[in-house]
Amino acid sequence: MKSLEEFRFEAYRIMKEKIPSMAKSWCDIRGGAGSGVTFRRNKEALREIILKPRFLSAKDSVDTSVELFGGKFSLPLMPAPFGMRIQSIRRDIFEAIAEACEEMKIPMTLGYPMDPSYVRELCESYSSLIWFIKPMRSKDKMRELFEIANSLETLAIGMDIDSICGICEGSTVLFEDQFSPQSVGELGEMIENSSSPFILKGILSEEDLKVALELGADGIVVSNHGGTILDYIPSPIEALPKLDHPLKMIDGGFRSGVDVLKAIALGAVAVLIGRPILWGATVDGKDGVIQILSIFQRELERAMKITGIEKLDEASESILWK
Ligand SMILES: Cc1cc2nc3c(=O)[nH]c(=O)nc-3n(C[C@H](O)[C@H](O)[C@H](O)COP(=O)(O)O)c2cc1C
Repeated sequence: MKSLEEFRFEAYRIMKEKIPSMAKSWCDIRGGAGSGVTFRRNKEALREIILKPRFLSAKDSVDTSVELFGGKFSLPLMPAPFGMRIQSIRRDIFEAIAEACEEMKIPMTLGYPMDPSYVRELCESYSSLIWFIKPMRSKDKMRELFEIANSLETLAIGMDIDSICGICEGSTVLFEDQFSPQSVGELGEMIENSSSPFILKGILSEEDLKVALELGADGIVVSNHGGTILDYIPSPIEALPKLDHPLKMIDGGFRSGVDVLKAIALGAVAVLIGRPILWGATVDGKDGVIQILSIFQRELERAMKITGIEKLDEASESILWK
């Protein structure tokens, strides 16, 4: 069985051939907006959080299941949404990730841009999909995208509201002309008319959280898009304890099941795993993704046993070292 690091190295070797401009960023070598402070801080802030071992209260078996939007899942994990750019690694990459998610009994997510007929096919073939649509600059495109997403049978619909000014790799900004801020009224209308639960991805401030709560967002993802939005903004794990929403999820820099338990202890219901899922899919398709998820699962179970909790809802700040 390979380690996460072995997957990362092997994925880098393959990505360097297939998509050289993104290989360093997608393999955690160097990336993110500007000088990469946010990109690095995501992992550094997680590293600063230490768990309190409770060997004399340790558990022999644990239950990692979680309920999300009315569904029961085996782990508090899901892949972070990726757009169709990742198909340059392999054409069947979304199918590979979706099949792994089905087998591991966790939700699957999709990002942007996605061909709507392809999303429809994926929705028909796999259960529990969440489609994160973008804040489109064109009102017509926004309406069309929302209507398509709304017509599909999804577990939830999301919008990554942090991508309003595009996505950065160093000083290059991608998609800048395609996205723009949505007014509170426009967002509220989508949330109200959504046939599935609606998630806002990219909440980092208490002010944005207040709007999300007022608009009735069913869930939030505390995220900075893997460090690709703006240099010198907080890591999601730093922001998490300040943001009180009944269904908060998080992503950015999670590289082990121990990291996942830290977020659960700080109130997250689930963690979205970004780049490591790509490493698994790049190296070995569906089986690679299953191996990555299994690494997270084993580490999470072990961390739960040693911190003395049997179920995820028992995790609180009391399992953290202060
Ligand atoms: C290749 C790639 C493509 C991404 N595409 C999207 C997208 O289309 N929509 C979205 O909301 N986030 C997108 N993201 C951001 C991820 O969903 C997630 O927020 C981030 O990768 C989490 O950080 P991590 O990679 O450190 O785990 C993308 C990230 C990567 C690496």
